[in-house]
Amino acid sequence: MRAPLQQWSQQMERIIYCMVCGKEAPVDAERCLACDAPLHTEQQVTYPGLRRRCEQLPQQLSDRLYIVVLSFKELPDTSRECFRSIVAALSHVDCDTVVLASVASAEEAELIRDSDLVIITAGSPRKPGMSRSDVLDVNRAVIDTIVDQVLELAPDALLMLVTNPVDVLTWHAWKRTGWTRNRVFGLGGVLDAARMAYYIGQETGHSSRDIQTMVIGGHGDSMLPLFRFSSIHGINAEIVLDSEARTRVTERTRNGGAEVLNLREDSSAYTAPGAAVVTMVDAICNDRRQILPCVSVLDGEYSEQDTTAGVPVILGRNGIEEVIELPLNETELDGFQASIASIRADL
Ligand code: 2OP
Repeated sequence: MRAPLQQWSQQMERIIYCMVCGKEAPVDAERCLACDAPLHTEQQVTYPGLRRRCEQLPQQLSDRLYIVVLSFKELPDTSRECFRSIVAALSHVDCDTVVLASVASAEEAELIRDSDLVIITAGSPRKPGMSRSDVLDVNRAVIDTIVDQVLELAPDALLMLVTNPVDVLTWHAWKRTGWTRNRVFGLGGVLDAARMAYYIGQETGHSSRDIQTMVIGGHGDSMLPLFRFSSIHGINAEIVLDSEARTRVTERTRNGGAEVLNLREDSSAYTAPGAAVVTMVDAICNDRRQILPCVSVLDGEYSEQDTTAGVPVILGRNGIEEVIELPLNETELDGFQASIASIRADL
C-alpha cells in the first residue's frame, strides 16, 4: 500500500551519509553500500544541498586546512543564509581554518584573503536537455570575476574549478591567472570514475569498494571510461565485463550527471560531486600524492598542447605534481583525441 503523502515527503528529504567514506546511502540501509561500514541513526542529515556538500569537508580532512568555497553572486537568500550558518558552525570545528564564503559583495570576497586553496563551484547549473557547454558563456563571466578576486586576495593559492563546463573553464581560469599549470586544475575524472565504479558494480554485483576505475578526456558526453586501466580487486575489468556490458557502463558513466539532472529537474548533481571534491582536497591538504584523474592543462603529454583534458595526475600539496601518461592503444587514443577535440571547440 502506498504511504501517505507526508510520510513520502519525509522519506524523500532524509539522506544518510556514511561517516567513514562520505557516500550517500539508502535511508533504510544498515550498512554503507560503498564501504560496508555500519550506519547509525545519528548519521542521518536532512540538510539542503549546499550544506550537505560543505559539511562533509571537516569530517574527512586533517586539522590543517584553509579552504574557501565561493558561490554564485545570484544565490537565493536562503542559500546565502545557509552558507553563513556553515561559516559560523565550522569556526568551531577542530580545523585550523575552514571558511566557506558566499561572495555576494566585495566585503565577503575578503574572506578568501591568503587562502591556500580556493574551490570555485559558482555558476549556473545546466537544465534538463542542456549540455555542460550550454552554460559556458554565463559561467565564464562568473569565473572571470572570481579569478580576479583570487588574484588580488589569494595570489599564492591553488585554484580548483568545479563549475561547468569544467575543462573549458579550467583553461580560461589558468590563462587568466598566468600561474604555473600545476596550480589550476579541475574536478571531473574523480566523479566520473566513481560513477563508472558504481555501474561496474551494478553489472557484476561486486562492491564498488573493490573497483578501481579510470576515466579520461573531457567531463562531457565524450569522456572515455578506460576498462583496460580499471579493475575489480586487481582483476582487469576487460576480463570481467563482455563488450555489451562495457558499452552499457560507458553510456551510463557518460550520462550519470544527466540522469541526476533529469530526476532533479532544477539542479544538477551535488552529492557525488561534493564527495569527489573532498577526495581531491584530502589529497592536496594531506599531500597524499594520490593518482587521480583530474582536469589538467596539457603541455606535450599525450602529444597535446594548448588544451586541458581529464588525465591521471599525481595530486599533492602543490596541486598537480605530475601528469601521468598512460600507454593508450590506438582505439583509446582515438577516443581521447575525439574528446579533446570537443573541448577545443569551446576554448
Ligand atoms: C556532474 O557530472 C555536475 O558535472 C557535474 O554531475
